[in-house]
Amino acid sequence: MSVVIRSIASYIPELRVTNDDLAKKIDTTDEWIHSHTGISTRHLAPDGMQTSDLATEAAKKALAKANIQVNDLDFILVATATPDYFGFPATACIVQDKLGASGCAAFDITAGCTGFIYALDVASSMLERHHGKHGLVIGAETLSRLVDWEDRSTAVLFGDAAGAAVVSQIDEPGRGVLSTVLGAEGSGALDLYMVQTPRTSAYSRMEPVVPKISMNGHHVYDFAVKAMTTLIERMLHETVYKLEDFAWLVPHQANARIVQAAGKRFGIPEEKFYMNIAEYANTSSASIPVALAEMEEKGLLKTNDLIMLLGFGSGLTYGSAVIRW
Ligand code: UT7
Repeated sequence: MSVVIRSIASYIPELRVTNDDLAKKIDTTDEWIHSHTGISTRHLAPDGMQTSDLATEAAKKALAKANIQVNDLDFILVATATPDYFGFPATACIVQDKLGASGCAAFDITAGCTGFIYALDVASSMLERHHGKHGLVIGAETLSRLVDWEDRSTAVLFGDAAGAAVVSQIDEPGRGVLSTVLGAEGSGALDLYMVQTPRTSAYSRMEPVVPKISMNGHHVYDFAVKAMTTLIERMLHETVYKLEDFAWLVPHQANARIVQAAGKRFGIPEEKFYMNIAEYANTSSASIPVALAEMEEKGLLKTNDLIMLLGFGSGLTYGSAVIRW
């Protein structure tokens, strides 16, 4: 029995904002953003569009590609740092309703930008333990809503998007998700977090505040390079594969320099990493499924190709999955 990504699709909001557009509103330049991150543009969700809307659109496309009906789903997992509602209900439940499904399990996973890999691992375990045959694993974000537009060091980094995978149990040993590594370093939790003013008591008259992103860029950068390096080492150690066996490494798209630095340590040519940060910026848990959907559309993923997903993010979390496509 294997767990495969049966189909993959994305939803990208139409509104495309260039670095020059941002430079008209905040104190930055295209040259700075591009040279420090590799980002040229990002897409932003219009007012009124929630994370569940992006997730639902991506999910509909993935279901159509997989030729699976919503009522065939046994669960819906949404990895997100920007749920429709903080706390509850889970965005996955809202997605279930918007898809017209009912009854299947639905819950969110909070693992920052590593969320899609965490969710994929949970989904694989659920299917392996016979919690059904098909599930949806979605990474969806509307981070632009939580960006502090006064803080140029983070405002330029993020974009909105969703990516969705239909995962299925099939009887083809050696295919699908072959190995996963998940980890976290909670001591770095406040290196990347949502600042929120706490309410002091049940009788507090404080208005609810909109949380906003705060990041210690240097700490997160160092963590990210170390996480990528450790993940690649561990995957090579824990599987029988060598770097040459991989058709693609698909990293979380946070900063092109992070990927270049990790690649240099192993002598991995840049072309082996699939990168699309230039167009979409950092879309957190959506970045890996959006990259996979784009690769699939371009015909870059062939059946039986070996690929490695590499993620890191708030938590601080990290994770990797080796997949035989
Ligand atoms: O997905 C979650 C994971 N997140 C990440 O992986 C992000 C990790 N961190 C990074 O990618 C980098 O640390 C950043 C891209 C956030 C920042 O790059 P940096 O090379 O570390 O820049 P810096 O923070 O050291 O800032 C250098 C200079 C500063 O000016 P001074 O003090 O040297 O005069 C900043 O004020 O660049 C300035 N600066 C900017 N200038 C123009 C910071 N942001 C901007 C900006 N435009 N947007």
